[in-house]
Amino acid sequence: MFFILHILLMAAAASGLMAGISAAMFFRRNKNWLNFHKTVNVLSFAGMATGIIMAFLYVADSGGRHIQGFHHIAGLTAFASSFITLMIGYRQFKAENKQAFRATHRWLGRFSLLSVLTAVILGLMLINLF
Ligand code: HEM
Ligand code: HEM
Repeated sequence: MFFILHILLMAAAASGLMAGISAAMFFRRNKNWLNFHKTVNVLSFAGMATGIIMAFLYVADSGGRHIQGFHHIAGLTAFASSFITLMIGYRQFKAENKQAFRATHRWLGRFSLLSVLTAVILGLMLINLF
């Protein structure tokens, strides 16, 4: 059960991040792009956080040892960098050095997506689907 929830939540979170980031990259002419970007990315981050809890419960339940491979490290990296991206995302409007915050948010956000997708591929390899 924890395992299925882990996979479903992560599939939803990865798709959500792709949609949220696409709005910032390709749909800025739409006046609602920022609201969409914020809402979808915050929800995706919440899904990722819950998905990681499910993974920990699954590994604990099956008697395994935690953080034993590249998938696990890619997953935790994605989680940490998404969290920092999110914080910088809110902070960038009020910061004194707006340009630096904006650039960091953009690049860390792209890195977060890349590490989520890496975790997904490594996860699918763990269950021999890729
Ligand atoms: C559909 C894609 C995914 C599949 C099939 C998958 C599969 C798995 C499997 C089989 C495990 C357990 C490994 C073991 O027994 O040690 C696991 C653990 C884990 N997964 Fe995923 N996963 C996916 C996506 C993700 C994503 C996107 C993240 C993070 C952003 C993530 C984060 C983790 C973490 C942190 C653990 C380790 C938990 C621990 O060691 O206590 N996974 N995943
Ligand atoms: C996990 C959460 C988030 C991720 C991964 C993320 C990722 C990104 C990425 C990759 C871009 C650059 C898109 C491009 O190439 O043009 C971007 C732009 C932007 N994001 Fe986010 N974002 C997140 C959350 C937020 C939040 C919560 C806010 C606001 C409260 C926000 C505000 C913005 C703004 C204003 C831009 C445009 C910045 C600029 O052009 O300089 N983001 N985001």
